Amino acid sequence: MSDPTDRIALVTGAGRGIGRAVAVRLAAEGALVAVHYGRDDEAAQSTVREIRDAGGSAFAVRAEFGALGALDELWRRYDEGVAAVRGGSGPAPVDILVNNAGITVPRGVRDLEEADWDRLFAVNAKAPFFLVQGALPRLRDGGRIVNVTTAATRVAMPVIAAYTMTKAALETFTVDLALELGPRGITVNAVAPGYTDTDINPDMKVPAQREAMAATTALRRVGTPGEVADVVAYLAGPGGRWVTGQRIEAAGGVRLGL
Ligand SMILES: NC(=O)c1ccc[n+]([C@@H]2O[C@H](COP(=O)([O-])OP(=O)(O)OC[C@H]3O[C@@H](n4cnc5c(N)ncnc54)[C@H](OP(=O)(O)O)[C@@H]3O)[C@@H](O)[C@H]2O)c1
Repeated sequence: MSDPTDRIALVTGAGRGIGRAVAVRLAAEGALVAVHYGRDDEAAQSTVREIRDAGGSAFAVRAEFGALGALDELWRRYDEGVAAVRGGSGPAPVDILVNNAGITVPRGVRDLEEADWDRLFAVNAKAPFFLVQGALPRLRDGGRIVNVTTAATRVAMPVIAAYTMTKAALETFTVDLALELGPRGITVNAVAPGYTDTDINPDMKVPAQREAMAATTALRRVGTPGEVADVVAYLAGPGGRWVTGQRIEAAGGVRLGL
């Protein structure tokens, strides 16, 4: 693996929640971090500020997954951002790609609309697939890809069936990519969070619901974005060099028993 301070990381959905914690953590370890986001400029700028205030390097990259031409825009802004910090021109390299951006639609098979299905798959499965495709010629040997999925792919949760199907697709892609990119020393893994305290879970703000979620875990609490980021950073760092094609839950042991 390259020198940690030479590395360039692209973290999708890094304005808020888990992606933000991952971006901050990778920057603290020396990487230049591209803070990707969809719509919330202020949140992304605040991630960049937090990283810079701590002495790290970062820039924001806006691209709304699901919109036409989003990935072309992402790479254009990525190249501009890297050039502004490191100089150079043309396609910039990538050392660490974290496919984290995601959405949920809490509707089961009876009432999920076709448009919801299309949006879920566009953001959670199609965007990571084509983002990796665009990253392939840029990924340096010894690089890392981490896909953020969900603990729900291991259990039944009918209310988020379509969401979980998108993450199951991403887990399958993880294994395929690991085999394809292994000869270049690139590892590919999935990190599957459980109940994590972010905006994606408004129910968690309701104390009774939070307690009910906590009660389903072995550790009897919900997780923080930083606890998921620690696992992503491990896989992205030198300690993770012999781990590839794996799905690792960062979920406090959610639903371990019957
Ligand atoms: N939190 C949990 O309990 C939990 C559990 C299991 C799995 N996960 C997974 O963990 C990942 C991160 O979730 P989170 O809880 O941190 O979510 P979050 O707080 O809602 O943050 C989502 C991030 O994704 C970005 N995003 C959403 N839609 C996008 C789009 N169409 N195009 C580009 N960016 C988009 C958002 O950008 P903007 O801010 O610009 O909208 C934001 O930065 C997701 O893949 C989620 O499925 C979370």
